[in-house]
Parts: sequence; structure tokens; C-alpha cells
Amino acid sequence: MIRTTHPAPPPLEVDGFSVTLHTPNVSVRPVDRVTYSVEAGEVLAVVGESGSGKTILNMAPLDLLPVGVDADMAGSVRFEGRDLLKMTASELEAVRGSGIGVVFQDPLSALNPVRKVGRQLTEGIERNLRLTPAQSESRAAELLALVGLPDPKSRMQQYPHELSGGQRQRVGIAMGISGEPRLLIADEPTTALDVTVQAQIVELLKDLQKRMGMAIVIITHDFGVVSGLADKVAVMYAGRLSELGSVRDVLVGPAHPYTRGLLQSVPSLTVPMDTKFVGLPGQPPNLAHRIDGCAFAPRCAEVRADCRGHRPGLLSVPRSSPGHLAACPVVVNQNI
Ligand SMILES: Nc1ncnc2c1ncn2[C@@H]1O[C@H](COP(=O)(O)OP(=O)(O)OP(=O)(O)O)[C@@H](O)[C@H]1O
Ligand SMILES: [Mg+2]
Repeated sequence: MIRTTHPAPPPLEVDGFSVTLHTPNVSVRPVDRVTYSVEAGEVLAVVGESGSGKTILNMAPLDLLPVGVDADMAGSVRFEGRDLLKMTASELEAVRGSGIGVVFQDPLSALNPVRKVGRQLTEGIERNLRLTPAQSESRAAELLALVGLPDPKSRMQQYPHELSGGQRQRVGIAMGISGEPRLLIADEPTTALDVTVQAQIVELLKDLQKRMGMAIVIITHDFGVVSGLADKVAVMYAGRLSELGSVRDVLVGPAHPYTRGLLQSVPSLTVPMDTKFVGLPGQPPNLAHRIDGCAFAPRCAEVRADCRGHRPGLLSVPRSSPGHLAACPVVVNQNI
């Protein structure tokens, strides 16, 4: 008998994924038919201006939207082959415990204000790694030291409000990686930290990714983090991917005018930490309004009449690697 061995499914496959949010007054679609995947041990950076849909894209499938936000989802988001959108609440909770770790953009949303930091951290460790309370406590202290929190043992006795923003952010990172997840979703984990600490956190994530083969999706505004940590970049604009490709292809040869705009101030791939996006002229569109044509057209220096006709999908960028895609027919065809 011949046995065929199937390769293990990748940690994350997002396929035609859309999210529509319903508020009392209006419905918006902050994520619109997004497709990408993350392989084992791979790091994907998601970049894009504020409001482009980065947090909703990553948190909605895990049922981690802010309380009171009513969302409809379509498409699929598979974790190791299993569609998160089809899971029951308890299945999702189990996956969030050990399979997928999450670092929240706002560290306070991960922390219970009325419980000591140490207890919150050790509970997860006990549950996910099946360690004894004593083992969990020393693991928690170890993790807090790893994320650069001074005097971890006494910090563990404190409540979240007794810590500074930067300290809470480090506790949030420790919580995200405490279950030794196979996939880490980190939403701007280094934003409130100073440059030296940012670099330490990037090193820590790199080390975990290498040691545990962890895949990472990191949302960031910082091109230093992208070039220091990521293998691939997804650029979001108004709820869609405007460009997707390897860090090298996207940072060295950005195809979409939007990516070029974001990268304007970045001189080379050896970008120092804390290299933030420069301001592009104009504003992203209001997602509550209908978008006809390319959403970037009103701000685009290379706009043509047909850009306003229909909203382009991702196309292969000529003379680049096969996985390098951009949603701009004007630029893509010009290059042929
Ligand atoms: N609580 C909410 N209620 C209604 N609409 C929301 C809510 N949160 C987000 N949105 C809509 O979804 C869009 C995307 O929001 P999201 O938080 O994903 O952006 P982001 O890219 O993470 O921005 P930032 O970089 O500021 O974190 C917003 O522009 C807004 O239209
Ligand atoms: Mg966000």
C-alpha cells in the first residue's frame, strides 16, 4: 500500500476574509476579502495607517473584538487547518489558551484590574502548560524577567494600575507568550516602549520564534520592527491588502504607490528601530461611505482616470518574486 503523507497545514490561512461591523447608526466593513497565509516559524508584519483594519482583521476571528461590537464575518481563517470562524466559543477559548497567544494593542484590555498581575499570569501558565502552582510562579517570574521587567517577584504582587504603561505592556507580552503558543498575534506590542526596550522585545520574539518554531503576526507602525523581525509584510489600506510580499521585496521594491508613500522616509533595509511612518498627504477614506474605484486614488500621485472605475484586487508584481502582489494595475502594468 502506498501512503501519501500530507504536509502539516500552516499555522494560519486567511482566505477571502471579511468583517462587517454593525453599530446602532451605521455598518462598516473594515476587513474586505483579505487573503494571506503564515507558514510555521514565519513572521508576518501587518502595516498600514490608523483605522485601516489591522486590529479587526486579527482580533475578530478570535472573538476578541471590544465588548458591544457586533460583527458579521465571511470567508475562512484556518489555524492549523481548522476554521476559527466555525469554532464554538469553548473551542476558541481552548485554541486561544495554548495554540494561539495574543498580545493586545491596549495592555489594559488583557488585564483584570482587580487581580494581582502575578496571579493573572500564573493562572494561564498552570492551565496551558499543566505546571504546578510553584512551577508556574517561577515560570511567570522568569517570563517577566525575559520581557525586561525589573524586580519581577515584587511586580507580581501589584495590581495593573500600579504599573506604568510600559510595564503593563511588558506584562501583556509575557501573558501572550506564556502558553508557549504555536502562533502569536501581537498587536503593536512595542508602541509605548522606548527604543532600547523595543529592540529587546524584538530580540525576545525572534528568540522564541527560533526556539519554539513559533509563527508570529505582528501589527506595527514601525519599519525598524518590520525589517528586524519579519519575513513577510502585508500592507493594509481601507480594509484591504494593498501589497503583500517578502520584507525584502516590499521594502526594497515597493510596488503600490501607498507602500511607497509609507516608506518615503526610510533610506534602506537597515532601518533603525523607531522609524515611524511619515505622514502621507490627505486622509484614508471613511469606511462608512461607499468606496468606488481604488480607495487610494484620491491621494495617489500616479492616479489615472480608470482607477476610479473599479477597486483593483492583488496582482503579481512583474520582475519580482512570485509571492509579491500589489493591488494597483497602473503600476503593475507599467513595469512590464
Ligand atoms: N468599536 C468600533 N465600532 C465601530 N467601528 C469600529 C470600531 N472599531 C473599529 N471600527 C472601524 O474599523 C476600522 C478599522 O479599525 P481597526 O481598529 O482595525 O484599525 P487599525 O488599523 O488597528 O488602527 P490603529 O493603527 O489605530 O490601531 C475603523 O476605521 C473603524 O471604521
Ligand atoms: Mg489597531
